[in-house]
Amino acid sequence: MDHFLYRDGVLHAEDVPLTEIAAEVGTPFYCYSTATLTRHFRLFDEALEGTDHLVCYAMKAASNQAILTTLAALGAGMDVVSGGEYARAKAAGVPGERIVFSGVGKTRAEIADALEGGIRQFNVESEPELAVISAVASGMGVTAPVTIRVNPDVDAKTHAKISTGKSENKFGIPIARAREVYAEAAALPGIEVVGIDVHIGSQLTDLEPYRLAYEKVADLTRALRADGHDIRRLDLGGGLGIPYERSNSAPPLPVEYGALVKEVLGDLGCELEIEPGRLIAGNAGVLVSEVIYLKSGEGRDFLILDAAMNDLIRPAMYDAWHDIVPVREPAPGVETAPYDIVGPVCESGDTFAKARPMPPLGAGDLVAFRSAGAYGAVMASEYNSRPLVPEVMVKGDQFAVIRARPTYDEILKRDTLPPWL
Ligand code: LLP
Repeated sequence: MDHFLYRDGVLHAEDVPLTEIAAEVGTPFYCYSTATLTRHFRLFDEALEGTDHLVCYAMKAASNQAILTTLAALGAGMDVVSGGEYARAKAAGVPGERIVFSGVGKTRAEIADALEGGIRQFNVESEPELAVISAVASGMGVTAPVTIRVNPDVDAKTHAKISTGKSENKFGIPIARAREVYAEAAALPGIEVVGIDVHIGSQLTDLEPYRLAYEKVADLTRALRADGHDIRRLDLGGGLGIPYERSNSAPPLPVEYGALVKEVLGDLGCELEIEPGRLIAGNAGVLVSEVIYLKSGEGRDFLILDAAMNDLIRPAMYDAWHDIVPVREPAPGVETAPYDIVGPVCESGDTFAKARPMPPLGAGDLVAFRSAGAYGAVMASEYNSRPLVPEVMVKGDQFAVIRARPTYDEILKRDTLPPWL
């Protein structure tokens, strides 16, 4: 459920008509709902009620400071994957003891910064990384808390580009080698092994892969404890999917996921961490765009929008579906017609949808891409020198620009000429 509903014939974000924001901010723009973000965070928090747990928002999904600050105020931890994300989390007021650091390529500088500023744990992805963390921490005279990310070799049954738990993926260490690597870690200076980490992929629409992976983690917990390791924390990753196509999908709910977690791992006495990103931010955001032209082609009609693949890359990159709805509510029973919905970028890949049934639309009409809050603005670029889309946040009847659209001057100023020009 989200807070983008038609009211008086206009799609609203909570109590604000999207037409009002469009008039003030211009299009395209991203718009987030505070109530939806809050609701989704709480769903996870409540799903793990009764366990010692921390919901670490995977901020790669949407990392505007206003979003992070909203979630931090609710008690969220953060899952970060770069020095930049770490800096953002700290700036949003998240204490180091609530930040976990994931990612396959942490640099020495990033590791040192996190040790300096405080970190709950590093989720270590390889033996060379373990050695570097040991060296950096020892050099600083501190101890780095770590989990080791194991790759359980489970098929998450999701898009190949966002599946991470198969043995052919670059993530984690093979679970079969885990005991050996834990023994190695325990012998290294500057390292304190605190638990196990696993993340099998994103946009999972079935709980079965989670069950398979978590059963393997439960077995590993027992085996490592028998080896003498103090396994007291399990980081279970993120990945729960959302209904991108509302008319025909209903992925499992956080409460069902929570029940599975408790069933499989609840009796181990471990502190539990989860790292949801998409489910918290995805349906908390829309991308609003204006139709520039309606162009009749051969056998098809194109709706050419002022948003493009550089603003929302998911359809081009993953063939992802986003529901696209008119901001002005269509009359009940109105006839739809198929449109190819495209952006202005000079690439055929700049296509959001093909033959999508839409009510009659023309130049000047607004449309909203639903489920655009996660992996939307954060994956945007300025390809074709199109300014980064602004972000707006709504709370009740208030809205605020939380990242302004850069002017052409600001964009140009980022380039500098070499002395010989
Ligand atoms: N934890 C780790 C270690 C991850 O790699 C990810 C996502 C998450 C948590 C959060 O997963 P979520 O709950 O958001 O599914 N750009 C792609 C998604 C890439 C996901 C990468 N890792 C997309 O637009 O679908």
